[in-house]
Amino acid sequence: MAKNIWTTRAAVSLAGLSLVGALAACGGSGAGGAGAGGGEEQAPEDMTIGVAMPTQTSERWIADGEAVKSGLEEAGFEVDLQFANDDIPTQQQQIDQMITKGADILVVASIDGTALGNQLKAAADQEIPIIAYDRLINDTENVDHYVTFDNYNVGVQQATSLLQGLGVLDGEGNETGEAGPFNIELFAGSLDDNNAHFFWKGAMETLQPHIDAGTLVVESGQTTIEQAATLRWSQETAQKRMEDLLTAHYGGGSGQLDGVLSPYDGISRGIITALKNAGYGATIEDGLPVVTGQDAEIASVKLINDGVQYATIFKDTRKLAEQAVAAATSYAEGEEPEANDTESYDNGVKVVPSYLLESDIVVKDNIQSLLIDSDYWTAEEVEAGQAG
Ligand code: BGC
Repeated sequence: MAKNIWTTRAAVSLAGLSLVGALAACGGSGAGGAGAGGGEEQAPEDMTIGVAMPTQTSERWIADGEAVKSGLEEAGFEVDLQFANDDIPTQQQQIDQMITKGADILVVASIDGTALGNQLKAAADQEIPIIAYDRLINDTENVDHYVTFDNYNVGVQQATSLLQGLGVLDGEGNETGEAGPFNIELFAGSLDDNNAHFFWKGAMETLQPHIDAGTLVVESGQTTIEQAATLRWSQETAQKRMEDLLTAHYGGGSGQLDGVLSPYDGISRGIITALKNAGYGATIEDGLPVVTGQDAEIASVKLINDGVQYATIFKDTRKLAEQAVAAATSYAEGEEPEANDTESYDNGVKVVPSYLLESDIVVKDNIQSLLIDSDYWTAEEVEAGQAG
């Protein structure tokens, strides 16, 4: 992934931050956490930020981790970055250790959004501000701010790309009059990840009118999130479920299947493998069903470029990292971070002030303008299907 954008952006924000550093030094804030809204200022150089990421099995989280770390370091903070291998006890232990080692602020992308209660209570007791990163942390009052994308809209975009791939909607999202019927199957993400529910809701509210009209048919009848869920967003689990669906409802591959709603590129690749193995064809042109995705992972961007996967959703993780850095900086200044949504994300205990970013649908035709021109991936990486 091209790295230069961060350097440029960070240089700009750093200019602002050295001023913050100077001000903080004058303020002479003593020991103790910045305190969520506690009003005390601290110099970034005196602060450690614990960054807890879920896994390194998906490249988006590696990129997130690196971008948050380098952004925070450019801003002057010390960073303790940990990945938890998609294992809940590991993440709990890592956060415990961050607190023990004196973290001043926590940035947390949880594995299970309800499993960190004890850790967050311990952090809150020490007035350590907690920023939920990308995934909301549920059932606790101890989360202060949330940086993420408009997750409901990501789901709308996933369903829209499926409808566009099938020809029910045109490129502008208008109905074409194409009435199918098209056979589709539905996949959701991990039920313990709050985002999975937002993606599903956005997608299903977009697809339901077309299901009701008979344009789309879910032959398996598996239309609840519980039936469609994929624990830990696992590629293998998704491949297995697709194989089972083909066996049970599509004559092992001889029946007509036109499209599959997939919420994440890893899941999409598992689905595509199952479809290819069942003989649906090597490309969409050759009869492979339209499969959606999310994250613009390089392996899937190549598949889109090669006419194999139809679409993905691009969420610019560099911008998300930037928001996390901005939020941490606000806490260091003794301020509340900026929120642009104070209604959508109720975690069961409170509505968490959030900063939401926008995402884009990527298809073959706009890989260049969205991903290459923005330096997210280079043309060579797209060609090779791997990060250079
Ligand atoms: C993220 C998605 C990602 C998924 C699997 C979700 O919480 O928002 O971008 O595809 O986790 O890692």
